[in-house]
Amino acid sequence: MSAIPQKATGEIHIRGGVRLQGKVKIQGSKNAALPILAATILAEGESCLKDCPKISDVYRMLRLLQSLGGHVRWEGEGVCVSTGSITTQDMPADAITGMRSSLCLLGALLARCGSIVMEYPGGCVIGKRPIDLHLQALEQMGVCFHEEGGRICGQAPKGLCGAEISLPLPSVGATENILLAAVTARGCTRIEGAAREPEVEALCRYLNACGARIDGIGTSRLEIQGVRRIHGATYRIPADRIVAGTYLYAALGTRGCILLEQAPCQHMHAVIHMAERMGAICQVTREGLYVQSLGELVSPGLIRTGVYPGFPTDMQSIALAVSTMASGETRIEERIFEDRFRVADPLRQMGADIRQTDPCCLRVGGSCRLHGERVRACELRGGAALVVAGLMAEGETIVTGCEYIERGYENICKDLRELGARINSV
Ligand code: UD1
Repeated sequence: MSAIPQKATGEIHIRGGVRLQGKVKIQGSKNAALPILAATILAEGESCLKDCPKISDVYRMLRLLQSLGGHVRWEGEGVCVSTGSITTQDMPADAITGMRSSLCLLGALLARCGSIVMEYPGGCVIGKRPIDLHLQALEQMGVCFHEEGGRICGQAPKGLCGAEISLPLPSVGATENILLAAVTARGCTRIEGAAREPEVEALCRYLNACGARIDGIGTSRLEIQGVRRIHGATYRIPADRIVAGTYLYAALGTRGCILLEQAPCQHMHAVIHMAERMGAICQVTREGLYVQSLGELVSPGLIRTGVYPGFPTDMQSIALAVSTMASGETRIEERIFEDRFRVADPLRQMGADIRQTDPCCLRVGGSCRLHGERVRACELRGGAALVVAGLMAEGETIVTGCEYIERGYENICKDLRELGARINSV
């Protein structure tokens, strides 16, 4: 098998109305894997990342690492990466503009090479997604930035040095970029107001396994003692809490009864709690998360997104899809991104009663009978929400724009088929 397969992208066809039943194993986390792959740039020697998800964003990142001179090989469920000699000449622009996580290369490459020229990163269209916090923090660490031909150019003529950085908001990506820059910087870096998302914690744990010295892991105050060099390590990518959440809400919406094997329950409190308020019975067992949803689906009243440990913005569209059929009105407040309601239109096409009351709030009428339609995914989690809506709807739903879904889900059709759903990728 070539290191980076090309996947065919088609449509997803769903015949709704089946209660999900059975068990499925949860894949490795996309948002943990991507910054860790970027971090391999810093490590001397090979790193083996077990349970690395086989999704298009990971393949893009691997292509970037290869273009920089890295070696990549899949070994079973994991990928081994070594980045012996690095050259920043030939990074494929489309792999950078195609995903937000290419931004992690900024911190990693500045640390490794002292300079960088790259396109502005892309990713899902879910708001303005500025990068000012990333650039300001790296400037504090000795980097000078300017823009040339629409590209970001950064240079650290005297190398990177530790700094006291206070983030005005706990940006996940900015925290990760600072960590990557700080690990081999001269001196100590302190981050106040760091993001506490489990994926930041996973990055810290991988880096420490490689010989980095990061303290305060899992808290909003991280302290990084710069070390001269770090080595490769074997590390298991944690299970994806958003994929687990997607299937949990699919079971809730179809009144199913499923086991999510290896679901990272310790990082899913808000998502589990919300599902319970909507009528699910959830049980954390040794094997994972057991979900039973046989009774009435009820509105939780309010779903408000927030930074971890709050309700994750990445679950908002999926919860929105389920709330359309719950009894009672639901108010959805999106507090992280300002344009994350694009899935409302295709859901309305399927019969949902959704009104936007202000830029960050929706009111969902509830008790709808969704019906199958041909709908288009415009972004990753919105696409997954349409799949969940299709499972709940009467008749056939066809979801197009599946390339977005493949960015984060290894094989959503196969997983859901294992749970009894009538779903196919064609
Ligand atoms: C990451 C996740 C994404 C998740 C999000 C919030 C990855 C690859 N993506 O995205 O799935 O939805 O965290 O949990 O891990 N902001 C600024 N300036 C900056 C950076 C961010 O104003 O320089 C703002 C953003 O516009 C947004 C908020 O901060 O409103 C949160 O963004 P951030 O935490 O940085 O999200 P990402 O790292 O992009």
